[in-house]
Amino acid sequence: MANQKSLQIASLPLQSFLDDLHDKYKLEQEGAVADYIPELAKVNPDAFSICIATVNGEVYKVGDYNQLFTIQSISKVFVYGLALDDHGRDYILTRVGVEPTGDAFNAIVLDEQSKRPYNPMVNAGAIATTSLIKGFGASERLNRMLDMFRRYIGHDVFVDIAVFTSERTTGHRNRAMAHLMLNFGMIDEPIDEALDLYFQQCAVMVNCQDLAVMAATLANKGVNPISKEQAVDSRYIKDILSVMYTCGMYNFAGEWAYKVGIPAKSGISGGIIAVVPNQMGIAVFSPRLDSRGNSVRGVKVCEELSQHFGLHLF
Ligand code: DON
Repeated sequence: MANQKSLQIASLPLQSFLDDLHDKYKLEQEGAVADYIPELAKVNPDAFSICIATVNGEVYKVGDYNQLFTIQSISKVFVYGLALDDHGRDYILTRVGVEPTGDAFNAIVLDEQSKRPYNPMVNAGAIATTSLIKGFGASERLNRMLDMFRRYIGHDVFVDIAVFTSERTTGHRNRAMAHLMLNFGMIDEPIDEALDLYFQQCAVMVNCQDLAVMAATLANKGVNPISKEQAVDSRYIKDILSVMYTCGMYNFAGEWAYKVGIPAKSGISGGIIAVVPNQMGIAVFSPRLDSRGNSVRGVKVCEELSQHFGLHLF
């Protein structure tokens, strides 16, 4: 089945399909750029790119695919993988659940019984996950995280200091969540260090092509299809893709799973990644967001790609 689909896709003019999609949606003006982090409001709202990287290492791209932006919540997927690599599945499950919330990404809510954050894709769960990254002191933890991103992308990455500082100064809601989780013993001191690392991971700079290669690495059992480097232990790919599938698009996750039908994750700066297991990674960047915080053009492009190529898992 997977082979049949790969053959189909390889024989279709994928590049010209992406060019047409870009032309079709570039005039779409719906949605608004996130401005709750002051530094994010400075982005060009019209920026738009679509990239696909296959597990064979081919890359198809259109639009502003070199434009850098901060990865934001898409980072949560990869940091979850690093935490699994560091501690294993059983321990991570005691600290972060795998249930969708149906609430907004920044909801201040923990599971009533276990006191765990619901899942690693919402802010509370992501802060808990980040707090588990191993390392001796803040700089070793940051370096391990940056090195993890390098493995997925294939080149070094940097933190945008202006965005990091902006989030650190204004992120009171995230601080409140960290204190709540400290109260329930779900994260440990020093929480300021964990929050700094969380704000730093959100401020890692990527472009749309980088995101497609990262998604393709997940599609390729954790091996970067271009550099051939193992970015995450292959036994955790199913954990990562399962929570992306059920929780990656926040309170739109159900409708996304129903309509698009592939694991995905969005970020507030306008990126979306989607993973077609054993085939390809898809990335779209367009900063205008809908009311749930997902890129308007990004959702439409993925819906159309899924329909056209029959990517829905079921
Ligand atoms: O914690 C925050 O508010 C941001 N750094 C990340 C938010 C984000 O990307 C949520 N996504 N849709």
